[in-house]
Amino acid sequence: MQVVKTVADVRRIRKELAGTWGLVPTMGFLHAGHISLVERARGENTRVGASVFVNPTQFGPGEDLAAYPRDLERDLGLLEQAGADLVWVPSAEEVYPSDYRTFVDVEGVTMPLEGAARPGHFRGVATVVAKLLNVFLPDRAYFGQKDAQQVVVIRQMVRDLNFPIELVVCPTVREADGLAMSSRNVYLTPEQRAAATVLYRALSAARDVWTSGERDGEQLRQAMRRVLEAEPLARTEYISAADPRTLEELGPASRGVLLSMAVRIGKARLIDNLLLGDG
Ligand code: PAJ
Repeated sequence: MQVVKTVADVRRIRKELAGTWGLVPTMGFLHAGHISLVERARGENTRVGASVFVNPTQFGPGEDLAAYPRDLERDLGLLEQAGADLVWVPSAEEVYPSDYRTFVDVEGVTMPLEGAARPGHFRGVATVVAKLLNVFLPDRAYFGQKDAQQVVVIRQMVRDLNFPIELVVCPTVREADGLAMSSRNVYLTPEQRAAATVLYRALSAARDVWTSGERDGEQLRQAMRRVLEAEPLARTEYISAADPRTLEELGPASRGVLLSMAVRIGKARLIDNLLLGDG
């Protein structure tokens, strides 16, 4: 596995190593969720590239950019073990030199949910992913369903800007008690960690309501709200039962639904989601 810092080095190695390439973009502090993407890419491509870059443009003022957990040595060990061939670990200056001027703004699907709670977040995500795709020129790029809106935004960008890649979406990897794996889970104290199961419990309650035949978005949101309100350590930012394609909140009668939520517990801001029916 080769670990490089510059765009020029990624481009050189990309050319040297023949075959199909899968790319797994990450912000590091890797867990089994990230590794599941690398393993999937390993199984579907001759070569696997990954990036470890805490992208400053997707963090808002007052967000956790400075505090975001980092452990590059451990990350590189995990990536090597999972079969990555090339890892790009750029500096912020390599990605955004002082005269940097270009940003990718995806309209519409960036407005609700995470976009509303974190203005400018998806502008940073779309911009860095566009750059990663242009640097690695992969055949396939791998993303987690954990960040459901991110997938919708990147799919829109890939289609609109004609990136010649296949986007592969991988299932959310969870802890045994249902908590979605996240680099941000390290912010939780043991007591908060126990409370954090409330996200998956709320999603599961709404899934049960869906399975019993209920198709009204408001009923699904209420089922989640009831569970979240019963957890004193949880402060809910939003609860959503939305159209999986447009991300518009659903009223009655839907064939598929994206249930999602953002919840603050202690210092952590946690998100989770579940896709039901015709996603
Ligand atoms: P990061 O949060 O490090 O996540 C990297 C990739 O791993 C994303 O595609 C994310 O959806 C996926 N992932 C995270 N937790 C997961 C889990 N529990 N199960 C399955 N997949 C999971 O998402 C980002 O970084 C950044 O926004 C990035 C795309 C790298 C752009 O900076």
